Amino acid sequence: MRIDVFTLVPHAYAWLTEQRPVAAVLGTELELRLFNYRDTTPLRAGQVDDEPYGGGAGMVLRVDVVAAALDAAYDAESPGPVIALTPKGRPLTQAVIEELAAEPALTLLSARFEGFDERIVEHLATDAISVGPYVLSNGDLPAMVVLDAVARRLPGALAEGSGELESFSEELDGGLEYPHYTRPAEFRGWAVPEVLLSGDHGRIEAWRREMVKVT
Ligand SMILES: C[S@@+](CC[C@H](N)C(=O)[O-])C[C@H]1O[C@@H](n2cnc3c(N)ncnc32)[C@H](O)[C@@H]1O
Repeated sequence: MRIDVFTLVPHAYAWLTEQRPVAAVLGTELELRLFNYRDTTPLRAGQVDDEPYGGGAGMVLRVDVVAAALDAAYDAESPGPVIALTPKGRPLTQAVIEELAAEPALTLLSARFEGFDERIVEHLATDAISVGPYVLSNGDLPAMVVLDAVARRLPGALAEGSGELESFSEELDGGLEYPHYTRPAEFRGWAVPEVLLSGDHGRIEAWRREMVKVT
C-alpha cells in the first residue's frame, strides 16, 4: 500500500522508518511519501498558517495551503481516503486500523498550533481520526501512530505468527492478550505461574484462554 503524509516536519519520520515494523515493509509492501506543506505553499516566505477569523490565540493551517499540497501531489488522480488527524475525529481503534490497512492508499494530514481551517476537514479530507481524548501539539505523533499500527498489519512486517494473537485481535475475540513471562522463573519471590513451566501445551493453552481479558 501507499501512505502519503502531509506535514511540516518530514524529517521527524526518519526514526520511524528505521524501526520495525515500518522498516521491514518499506519499499516492498509499503511505499511512504512525505510531503512538506511549505514546498507547495502559494504564500510568500513559506507561510502555511494564519490568524483565526474572529480573533483568539494561535494560528490555523490554511485551506489554500493544504489544497495546493494535495493538488501538487495528486493532480487529477484520486488519492484514496484523505484523513485529517484531529482530536475531533472518530476514535482510532484496532478495527479502524484493520479497515485502513485494507486500503491500497491512504493520505494523512497533520496540523499544528490551533489546528486545521475547518474547510480542510469538511471539503479536502474524507475522514477524520483522533488517537485519543487528549490534545497533542501536532498531528505528527498521531500520523506515526497510524503508520506504525497499519504497517504491523502488512505482510512481512512481523515475524511469522506474532501478529495474530494480539490484544484486540479477532483471534482473542477483541480481548486483551494473556500475560507473558520469561526467565528467571523466580525473581524476588515473584514466581512465574506453574502451568507455564509444566510443558503441558494443552494446559498452557487453556490457561492462556482463561487469562484473556474481555474488553
Ligand atoms: C494543539 S492541536 C489543536 C487542538 C484544537 N485546537 C482543539 O482544541 O481540538 C494541533 C494539532 O495536533 C493534532 N492533534 C492533537 N491531538 C490530537 C489527537 N488526539 N488526535 C489526532 N490529532 C491530534 C491535530 O492535527 C491538531 O490539529
